Amino acid sequence: MLYIGIDLGTSAVKLLLMDETGKIHNIVSKEYPLSFPHPGWSEQNPEDWYIQTMTAIEELVSGSDRSQVAGISFGGQMHGLVVLDDQDQVIRPAILWNDGRTTKETDYLNQVIGKEKLSQYTANIAFAGFTAPKILWMRENEPENFAKIAKIMLPKDYLAYRLTGVHCTDYSDASGMLLLDVKNRCWSQEMLQICGVKEEQLPRLYESYEAVGTLKADVAEKLGLSAEVKVIAGAGDNAAAAVGTGTVGDGMCNISLGTSGTIFISSRSFGVDENNALHSFDHADGCYHLMGCMLSAASCNKWWMDEILKTKDYPAEQENIVKLGENHVFYLPYLMGERSPHNDPLARATFIGMTMDTTREEMTQAVLEGVAFGLRDSLEVARSLGINIERTKICGGGAKSPLWKKIIANVMNLKVDVIESEEGPGYGGAMLAAVGCGEFASVEEAAEKLVKVVDTVEPDPELTAKYEERYQKFRQIYPALKELFGKLAD
Ligand code: XUL
Repeated sequence: MLYIGIDLGTSAVKLLLMDETGKIHNIVSKEYPLSFPHPGWSEQNPEDWYIQTMTAIEELVSGSDRSQVAGISFGGQMHGLVVLDDQDQVIRPAILWNDGRTTKETDYLNQVIGKEKLSQYTANIAFAGFTAPKILWMRENEPENFAKIAKIMLPKDYLAYRLTGVHCTDYSDASGMLLLDVKNRCWSQEMLQICGVKEEQLPRLYESYEAVGTLKADVAEKLGLSAEVKVIAGAGDNAAAAVGTGTVGDGMCNISLGTSGTIFISSRSFGVDENNALHSFDHADGCYHLMGCMLSAASCNKWWMDEILKTKDYPAEQENIVKLGENHVFYLPYLMGERSPHNDPLARATFIGMTMDTTREEMTQAVLEGVAFGLRDSLEVARSLGINIERTKICGGGAKSPLWKKIIANVMNLKVDVIESEEGPGYGGAMLAAVGCGEFASVEEAAEKLVKVVDTVEPDPELTAKYEERYQKFRQIYPALKELFGKLAD
């Protein structure tokens, strides 16, 4: 049988067609615009997601036996606020995960309601990109839109709704709304009250591998697929990527170098970091995970290459980078503010340490290193909780660069396992579809059977020592600038 995995990303939707042996038959990607209506704001039109996904599905299955397609599932950009009226029409553009407009609402939640209560209700505190502060922002700034809300959902859930007519979400993605009681896998009545939302305005909760319905007849006809094709709830993109790299069960780690950068640690049991610097979310395998999220990771390199150096030849820019561990230039990767661990929407990207002989290569290297140091900040939080991690999987666009993988391995002092397919969320989505269709008994079994490690990048002790010294310098830069970032934003 064939399974479709849909990775609903920030710059594009990436689809993958997989069979029951894990073999990928086709990959299709379709871009859509991202708008920044004000500095630090980030929005997208849900209709664009749907149109591009439908076009992509048609292209994806065009060369295959369509009758073999049994299931579709998702990994979706998390936290985005999608609001529908009582006719199921989108009320306003979706406010995305990397939108920083909710400083006031985040402060209200963390300081007035209080972090302790939030953590008790949801296992998390408020971060600007989470969904609950966005709901509060809408209530305050767009009361006429807020009054029209009949359903609130997350980006991938909008696709599931358009494909099936069912209002659904899954526990892993719902965890990032700050409305879910993560430990007990149910909506938090306290949080609903704080946000002025009723339970009927929220979608029904499913495990990521559960079927929510089948394709609507008109959708099935348009795609040339059977109306029996099952749509499986899917997961937030990081949980889906973790499934796609086999990061399931206990104590496994995955790093995703996408638009955002995340470090994801799977766990069979529920746990919270006492400072809530890491997110404590449900996992797509039915268990839990901790996660640190940088808002700009591969997007830093993309910005540096596309906007500043004006080149599309990323490998050529990395070819002459040789002086690893010796760079005097540092880069703070906070192009959209930062989530983990600083929780500071006003933080900004910075280069520091240049001299007259600084080269283009050193600047590029600093960008790659700055992202690795940022991920290390979250890893340090996990280490401070006594979590011992020696190796990680890696996925995402940035993972295509051998140099970046080497920098990550040495900055973080981790063995980096490279998976046959780098298509983390799409592959994970297809795996969840296969589990939901009964091909495997569990997500863990699917991971065991389908995910193959093809290479490992080992840290080199000499280089790790050099990077240790660099990292100790890097971690002093943000605290020194923090106050200034606040003043610059006034
Ligand atoms: C995770 C997060 C990002 C988005 C990217 O908390 O905000 O990784 O999911 O799509």
